[in-house]
Amino acid sequence: MDRPETQSSWWHGATLYQVYVRSFRDTNGDGYGDLPGITAQLGYLSWLGVDGIWLSPTMPSPDHDWGYDVSDYRGVHPDLGTLADLDELVAAAAQRGMRVLLDLVPNHTSNAHPWFVEAVSGPDAPHRGYYVWAGPAPDGGPPNNWIAATGQSAWTLDQASGQYYLHNFLPSQPDLNWWDPGVHEEFRQILRFWFDRGVAGFRIDVAQGLYKDAQLRDDPPAPRDDVVTSRFGLAQVYSANRPESHGVFRDWRKIADSYPSPRLLLGETWVGDLSSLAAFHGHGDELQLTFNFPFIFTPFTAEGLAGVVAETLAKLPAGECPVWTASNHDISRFPTRWCDGDERKVRLALLVLATLPGTLVLYYGDEIGMTDVPVPAALVQDTMRAGSGGKFSRDRSRTPMPWDASPSAGFTAPGVTPWLPLGEHSTANVAVEQAGPASILSLCRDLVRLRRAEFGGQLASYTQLPGQPGLWVYQTGGLTVVTNFTGSPVRLAEPVAELGEVLVSTAPAGEAAEAGVLAPWSGIVARTEPED
Ligand code: GLC
Ligand code: CA
Repeated sequence: MDRPETQSSWWHGATLYQVYVRSFRDTNGDGYGDLPGITAQLGYLSWLGVDGIWLSPTMPSPDHDWGYDVSDYRGVHPDLGTLADLDELVAAAAQRGMRVLLDLVPNHTSNAHPWFVEAVSGPDAPHRGYYVWAGPAPDGGPPNNWIAATGQSAWTLDQASGQYYLHNFLPSQPDLNWWDPGVHEEFRQILRFWFDRGVAGFRIDVAQGLYKDAQLRDDPPAPRDDVVTSRFGLAQVYSANRPESHGVFRDWRKIADSYPSPRLLLGETWVGDLSSLAAFHGHGDELQLTFNFPFIFTPFTAEGLAGVVAETLAKLPAGECPVWTASNHDISRFPTRWCDGDERKVRLALLVLATLPGTLVLYYGDEIGMTDVPVPAALVQDTMRAGSGGKFSRDRSRTPMPWDASPSAGFTAPGVTPWLPLGEHSTANVAVEQAGPASILSLCRDLVRLRRAEFGGQLASYTQLPGQPGLWVYQTGGLTVVTNFTGSPVRLAEPVAELGEVLVSTAPAGEAAEAGVLAPWSGIVARTEPED
């Protein structure tokens, strides 16, 4: 690959890091993480070896959904800082060779956005058509059966006009109407506004949303009851996942590619099948990167994960780059969900994530093996699942980053109560783990650096090799990866036993002693021996 190509596809083989801004680092003692807090920690992120950071929503918002209800697409939320703070963060990151991606929310706005405030003023309001309106069904109820992420109807009646408006999430998050050309033009300008400021790209919220069925047909029952294919029993065939949305991404891709350093579009593509996921790449002319939810929700087994990896690579159009991630702000963290807090499994998961070809996205805290923190009902901040009495609140994976073992965890000033509770952080924190060569953090840093050295700017090859049940063995680029997803030691069969130089092993020092034996829940990365 020549240099310009390497430059333009900098995310190939790269590591991105998701910062949930409110929980990363608080610099002004209000209990909320902020943009200057990220700037202050850039040295840490650069030490870890990340190539880019994605910031959870930074735009002004009434925070009914913590920034995913945007009231101004060109500003910065005052709790998080100023536009100048964001410019400074982008510039300081660039000095360290790191890019900054923002979160763009094009499926809906806040009901406090001036477009919606105007739109509800009456059926003839100039921006009325920016939202989805419909009259009641014959029985006087909502226009159709669509269900919001809250579990309630996706429609709310606007008493004044007698029409309902659509909201696939909270009632205070009205869905935009992508059939209106004005909405397209607004977002083109929003993209350029941020790209012109040096923002390297966007993570696109609810990328499978945008267009809705023009006839507002009822959603059919879901064929399966898993979290990515079923929304409270319905398949989002008409309320989302419409083919017309692909045209939006082709349009945005042209804008992204018009910059000397092409901007990156990373979709939150919440779809349950890998063919639909691949479709978001178009013919290499839509999103460059897509979050892989089928992978995330695959059980932590060698067979399960190897299968979804193979299928993903087979389905993506040639030259397209897969994304491997296992945690984010909406789901249980992988050290809890996949690993039940078992450190051996956490190390194994990190080893696999970091050695798959494509883009790795770490969620803040993944690198120290941070687990979910139970948040008592009285302290819950996430209202999307309010009906569940806090039980399914997403706050468990949004708690403050533990920087050190002090009572405030180095997250906020001493004596300040953080916006969400800190978990147990006496040993699982950055300072302790940075000082420990055998820590999860040290392993993660080694893996990220190995990845950069081996895969940086490239789409490495991937071939699965035969292995005993419970083992996942593959060659990628110049590396051979051998993993044991069982609770027992496994004596490796030929030819896998003839490994080249071992570069990384997750096995505890004492258990690595015997050559050719893989410790329970462990993995090895070796230099592939040249064939003779
Ligand atoms: C995405 C976000 C989630 C948010 C929802 C509505 O799924 O990741 O946090 O609640 O969209 O914007
Ligand atoms: Ca703050």
